[in-house]
Amino acid sequence: MADTLTVVDNRTGKQYELPIQNGTVRAMDLRQIKTAPDDFGLMTYDPALMGTANCRSAITFIDGDKGILLYRGYPIEQLAEESDFLETAYLILFGELPTATQQQTWVREITLHTMLHENIKKFMEGFQYDAHPMGIFLSTVGALSTFYPDAKQIFDKVSRLRQTHRLIAKVPSIAAYAFRHSIGRPYIYPDNELSFSGNFLNMLFKMTELKYHPNPVLARALDVLFILHADHEQNCSTTAMRNIGSSHVDPYSALAGAAAALYGPLHGGANEAVLRMLGEIGSVARVPEFIKRVKASDGDVRLMGFGHRVYKSYDPRAKVIKKIADLVFAVTGKNPLLEIALEIERIALQDEYFVSRKLYPNVDFYSGLIYQAMGFPVEMFPVLFAIPRTAGWIAQWEEMLLDPEQKIARPRQIYVGPAQRDYIARDKRA
Ligand code: ACO
Repeated sequence: MADTLTVVDNRTGKQYELPIQNGTVRAMDLRQIKTAPDDFGLMTYDPALMGTANCRSAITFIDGDKGILLYRGYPIEQLAEESDFLETAYLILFGELPTATQQQTWVREITLHTMLHENIKKFMEGFQYDAHPMGIFLSTVGALSTFYPDAKQIFDKVSRLRQTHRLIAKVPSIAAYAFRHSIGRPYIYPDNELSFSGNFLNMLFKMTELKYHPNPVLARALDVLFILHADHEQNCSTTAMRNIGSSHVDPYSALAGAAAALYGPLHGGANEAVLRMLGEIGSVARVPEFIKRVKASDGDVRLMGFGHRVYKSYDPRAKVIKKIADLVFAVTGKNPLLEIALEIERIALQDEYFVSRKLYPNVDFYSGLIYQAMGFPVEMFPVLFAIPRTAGWIAQWEEMLLDPEQKIARPRQIYVGPAQRDYIARDKRA
């Protein structure tokens, strides 16, 4: 059996053999298909790139039908159970789990870079008192490029590693400052004796005590949530990171763009929508009525936190999160919205409408409940997503930079505007 696709152009009767590799044909191979020598050649039309592989990647594997998510080959369930965020970030960035020495060096480098330049603090102080923390976060990440002009040396391996250390270490500090700013509290400096997640909790919640002692269950829960969100292959924000990075801009500017993509309610904001939905439903007794409304609405009213473009079975991250929820609620007390969420899941998983459409809880269905119970306002949810995803964004950016097949991203279009016409003088316009 030949690994080729035979295409017959019925406009010309000509036949073409296109190679099939990795289950794909190359869109550029279609360019030879022409009706005349001056014809531009055939293109593919793929809005939202739903059927187009944009790169080769060795970072993350997803099998949406089977509910499998692997980072560098390792199942997400095992990493959530055995690893911690910094180790997982190392794995995502460098391809292998670190040895004991590598882990030690990595953690030390990250710990050394957690401080923010005092001028960054001043820069952040300039935001409106009620500025959205995600707006502060993405602007400040972009501003880092002005503090670290050496980041422009994107083809210098040492420089790339330095920016990687800085970014992984500083995003929690920026996130915490953004949070403290938005609630009018003084910024807290990092405590390098604490773990990555423990220090983040310190920078968020420390009040007047001399030393902040993070609750170990909450610190671990946050760490696991970070592991679950560290990468998810070619999603909207990662595609933004790769596209912006393909212009060879510095990684801070590219990452600001990726964070901006994550800010959107269709991407990083779905868990907030879940909380709003649960609040609107208000009680377990009203769940059946809401489900009826969803089914009758013909897609207009959606069960937020259900369904996924890629996962057509239970999102493996949602399974892990559900387990963490119990641990967190044992410390914080149960989020009163949990009962409503559980009832929705119970009914939906038995209902023909959701079953036939393969709609299962996704990562966002329970994560918002946990974040809320831990004391985070909903505005912080996308920021909490951006911190671990920074590891994925950098890994994907570097992979793109070093991939000899990649060039500046420059898609084509189908022009549907007016044909060429002459300028009309202002007094002659109808
Ligand atoms: N509730 C009710 N019905 C739904 C839902 C839902 N959450 N999601 C999809 N459907 C229905 C659609 O109405 C459609 O029905 P039809 O075939 O009768 O027209 C069918 O299922 C297929 O839906 P699509 O919109 O084509 O699926 P798509 O893959 O484009 O959408 C998406 C995926 C956007 C995630 C969708 O399931 C959704 O809107 N879910 C709710 C929002 C959400 O939770 N987003 C978070 C995603 S995870 C993340 O970004 C980290």
